[in-house]
Amino acid sequence: MGDSKQNIGWFSVILGLFMLISMIIPVNGIGANWGTQSSHPLSPDVVVRLLRENGMQKVKLFDADYGTLHALGKTGIEVMVGIPNDMLSTLASSSKAAEKWVSENVTEHVKKNKVNIRYVAVGNEPYLATYNGTFLRTTFPALQNIQNALTKAGLGNQVKVTVPSNADVYESPGSMPSGGDFRADIHDYMLQIVKFLSANGAPFTVNIYPFISLYSDPDFPVEYAFFDGNAAPLTDGGKNYYNMFDANYDTLIWALQKNGFGNMPIIVGEIGWPTDGDIHANIKYAQRFNQGFMSHIANGKGTPMRPGPVDAYLFSLIDEDQKSIQPGNFERHWGIFTYDGLPKYQLNLGTTNLGSLVKAKGVIYEERQWCVLKPSVKLDDSRLAPSVSYACARADCTSLGYGSSCGDLDARGNISYAYNSYYQINDQDEEACKFEGLAAITKSDPSRDICRFGIMIEPTDSGAELRFHAPGVLSCFVSVTFLFLTMF
Ligand SMILES: *[C@@H]1O[C@H](CO)[C@@H](O)[C@H](O)[C@H]1NC(C)=O
Ligand SMILES: *[C@@H]1O[C@H](CO)[C@@H](O)[C@H](O)[C@H]1NC(C)=O
Ligand SMILES: *[C@@H]1O[C@H](CO)[C@@H](O)[C@H](O)[C@H]1NC(C)=O
Repeated sequence: MGDSKQNIGWFSVILGLFMLISMIIPVNGIGANWGTQSSHPLSPDVVVRLLRENGMQKVKLFDADYGTLHALGKTGIEVMVGIPNDMLSTLASSSKAAEKWVSENVTEHVKKNKVNIRYVAVGNEPYLATYNGTFLRTTFPALQNIQNALTKAGLGNQVKVTVPSNADVYESPGSMPSGGDFRADIHDYMLQIVKFLSANGAPFTVNIYPFISLYSDPDFPVEYAFFDGNAAPLTDGGKNYYNMFDANYDTLIWALQKNGFGNMPIIVGEIGWPTDGDIHANIKYAQRFNQGFMSHIANGKGTPMRPGPVDAYLFSLIDEDQKSIQPGNFERHWGIFTYDGLPKYQLNLGTTNLGSLVKAKGVIYEERQWCVLKPSVKLDDSRLAPSVSYACARADCTSLGYGSSCGDLDARGNISYAYNSYYQINDQDEEACKFEGLAAITKSDPSRDICRFGIMIEPTDSGAELRFHAPGVLSCFVSVTFLFLTMF
């Protein structure tokens, strides 16, 4: 007992020092987007430790999950909480609902739990062209109601509102930054928001994706997407643009300036590159882009139109295997870490002395076993195709396409990959490795080269997981109780 007390003593001294240091250094730093659309999310405590060990001082969330915010309490990490688009209409039509939202999802955490909430993101890219104006009329009134609720709660100075927007809210007909203005069909709506943000000392948040430009336009010059590329510069009024990020960011500066808000603070809410699911989504390009971006902002030079530090959040921290793949298979592969918290590549964020990413600690894996196609099954078996479709529709086959990490598998490997994904997503349930007798469990890892046959991690203690894993949780509870009893 004595020993453990002493350890706790040292631990708090070190923790205290750590917190002191992190408060003294006034780093703009780099932030990360922490999304949770995963079948098996890492527990909030594991992720918060991951953030801290990688020196990240800012995090952007897409909702306001209680467990997530609780884990961020007393860490000093700056938090942007999010309001999903599907809540906008309720919050727009009722100031009471907005007050409840702020009370439950901001005030409570700031006051009781010491979460360093700095921003509320009202909606997520609500004016995205593909939404066809669905959130056009609700975003602004929701923004107003949330701001009023924050002011009423006495948090108006500490917590700022913002509306993360896709870069498609502005355009430049000639592709010149100086031609930038807000998209014609939403011009007045954008101006209304910008005016309001400015009046409340709040920033404009924009998501910029050179990858998407490359993905959607086969003629896009690849080198121009990167920061160390040898693309021919774009010259605009004597200013040279060597990469798409600078040009896109400055298009926004011009749009703001043209409408009288040239000094508005800007946050880059999302920036990053996926590692899988498309010919241009790979480790090499992702490393090149993200490291290039980090070096680009590290010198504090900013862009031709806005010299100075760039405030940005990487997209994203961890892969999410339940994201919609409607935009493309790459959607589930934006993480700088895999679903289980392993760094995908060498990335120096400039935030620690290590110069590389630190993996997640305390991750608990399920058994080292995989589900594969039985070697005895003939490839002309008519049950194969439907069973693969079944598995892929319910699990994740986004690494199987052309140019993806498992795109080189042969037909048998392909089928095994699909079966295994389904088996793992179902927590290695024996029933999930039947496929009418076509599949079998193996202890030998079928992974090869960059193609990884994953093993899932133990479900965490979030409510949704609890329902499906009562036995595991129960035995854990029993053993903790037992431990507790034996201590006294
Ligand atoms: C707080 O946020 C959570 C997560 O986004 C949401 O489910 C809940 O409805 C919010 N609370 C209120 C009172 O709106
Ligand atoms: C937007 O409109 C297009 C074309 O009319 C349609 O295909 C698409 O489903 C619509 N999207 C949404 C989110 O309503
Ligand atoms: C493997 O599966 C992918 C995705 O379903 C498909 O595009 C590819 O052609 C398959 N390869 C083989 C060898 O069957």
